[in-house]
Amino acid sequence: MTTHAATSVEADHTTEADTTTQAERTLPADHPLRDGRLDGAPLLRAYRGLPTAAHPVWFMRQAGRSLPEYMRVRTGTGMLQACLTPDLAAEITLQPVRRHGVDAAILFSDIVVPLKLAGIGVEIVPGTGPVVDHPIRTAADVAALPQLDPAALAPISQAAANCVQALGRTPLIGFAGAPFTLASYLVEGGPSREHLRTKALMHAEPETWHALASWVAGVTGSFLRAQILAGASAVQLFDSWAGGLSLADYQRFVAEHSATVLASVSDLPVPRVHFGINTGELLAAMRDAGADVMGVDHRIPLDVANQRLGGRTPLQGNIDPALLFAGDRPLHEATLACLEAGRSAPGHVVNLGHGVPPDTDPDVLTRLVAFIHDQP
Ligand code: CP3
Repeated sequence: MTTHAATSVEADHTTEADTTTQAERTLPADHPLRDGRLDGAPLLRAYRGLPTAAHPVWFMRQAGRSLPEYMRVRTGTGMLQACLTPDLAAEITLQPVRRHGVDAAILFSDIVVPLKLAGIGVEIVPGTGPVVDHPIRTAADVAALPQLDPAALAPISQAAANCVQALGRTPLIGFAGAPFTLASYLVEGGPSREHLRTKALMHAEPETWHALASWVAGVTGSFLRAQILAGASAVQLFDSWAGGLSLADYQRFVAEHSATVLASVSDLPVPRVHFGINTGELLAAMRDAGADVMGVDHRIPLDVANQRLGGRTPLQGNIDPALLFAGDRPLHEATLACLEAGRSAPGHVVNLGHGVPPDTDPDVLTRLVAFIHDQP
């Protein structure tokens, strides 16, 4: 019998012996999705709607101020400087994987990094968030936006490559900010509760708005693509502030631009997660922009989200981060409810409903990961 004779003829087709698909061949030969090291990775199985032996879990903002080892290595280095120093960004990315045993790393970076690399004057102010030197508010401002030189993304690619080399069988997630959320920082000049100027611009000068959102889509799409080509095996598009929009405005002003970003990596075989805060009313529209998986915040249960999505989209989420401060018993009860609701979906990756708060006790997260992995 020659059952193991994977001939070169068979290898040109997708057979049991050679599962390299046509799509995987769009990735570099040394990409983790091509050499078998991620075969069976629970995160990727759940993102694809396949059953897993244990529940996969990672946390948004798992790297960062909740970890003393992060505070140590960040001393004396600004946030964006840290993102652009590949060895440091890789070290910070790996810290929560080592400590908590989560099922994925997410590249340590920030949604405003590609704006910075394009030449926009932006800094991240501790305790505040991104602040832009010269807000973009007029047609002339938009026309004067710089082009992103793809070579400027080299430190991001290098950081991602360093991560995957160390990660072995744990997948790296890449991410980017969606056009609405990034445009809001550019128009408002900083964090904003109501996004008044941004929404006013959409309605007052739709052409200027669409030109701005198109520019952002190009820049943030390049950032996402660079991370995948350097080794990321899944990506998440954060439209953190989209929940401030009505469904009508989302569809009229935003969906097409998020769709451009998601489509810019659709030739690459990586699951695309799409997430925003307070987006219960937008879930289907955000999925229809081209997402494979929907991230859900803690304001609606996962079985309700699944229903709104017609039962065909894997989900990620959605333990309320506040429960991290409530003690293990309430946290574990909430977690069990989350797992139960998640069973209704075709796949479920456990996460919080939003990022890890900076003052979280990291031991609570380590215990939570073990608890989740122990559940049937
Ligand atoms: O672990 C991870 O999740 C990966 C790293 C990551 C960061 N920012 C690091 C970071 C990710 C995925 C982001 C995305 C991001 N950045 C979003 C979308 C996700 C979300 O939270 O909704 C947004 C809106 C931003 C913009 C931004 N950057 C804010 C609002 C802040 C917080 C400012 C503050 O100090 O409170 C940042 C800074 C930032 N980004 C930090 C980290 C670890 C804190 C910086 C520090 O340590 O000083």
